[in-house]
Amino acid sequence: MGILAPSILSADFTNLAQQIKLVEIGGADWIHCDVMDGQFVPNITFGPLIVKAARRATKLPLDVHLMIKNPERYIEDFVNAGANHILVHYEEVIHLNRTISYIKELGADAGVVINPSTPVHVVRDIAEYIDQLLIMTVNPGYGGQKFISNSIRRIKEAVELRKNISGKFLIQIDGGVNPITAKQAFEAGAEIFVTGSSIFKEDNISAAAMEIKNLIT
Ligand code: DX5
Ligand code: ZN
Repeated sequence: MGILAPSILSADFTNLAQQIKLVEIGGADWIHCDVMDGQFVPNITFGPLIVKAARRATKLPLDVHLMIKNPERYIEDFVNAGANHILVHYEEVIHLNRTISYIKELGADAGVVINPSTPVHVVRDIAEYIDQLLIMTVNPGYGGQKFISNSIRRIKEAVELRKNISGKFLIQIDGGVNPITAKQAFEAGAEIFVTGSSIFKEDNISAAAMEIKNLIT
């Protein structure tokens, strides 16, 4: 059974609580929060304040994707704001093993994110310590982009890597996920599906969420 994690990046922020309610009705399992600082990625989105607001709006796990420089500085703030999972980028964290341990010491699940051009094998020696491997299926920074076609091969490589190390991490994808790409990725072995515009930009948000949820079940 796949995990549906709608990204609030594409939600209507004037009505965040109601938007979250709608995806809950549509079968969402987690709520994905895309944090961007305008440095690691071109866009700026939000910080712990919005995570805290989302925390008040839902009981679902908050899956916080840190697309920021030096994320170690803010991990505790996001956990205190209510984050259940903290995802940091391999490309940005020099002492990744220490950061993953720190996230877990704070009581959150720890995930590593790799950009589309970062080979899957680079996470081999951290993979046994993480709860999630997030394979970016678009270049981070914006919602509404096109699914990068070699992502299916990369998902299969992650499945193979996990088998080789008897790992326990879940395989997550983020970006350009729609009913077509979700099904392809699910068949390749993806388990967590971050979906923004394919849900929140639809007229019927709950039905759009349900459609993808049914394809990954
Ligand atoms: C990119 C963001 C997006 C977002 C999903 O940095 O992480 O991938 O979550 O956006 P959609 O589903 O609209 O591509
Ligand atoms: Zn994300």
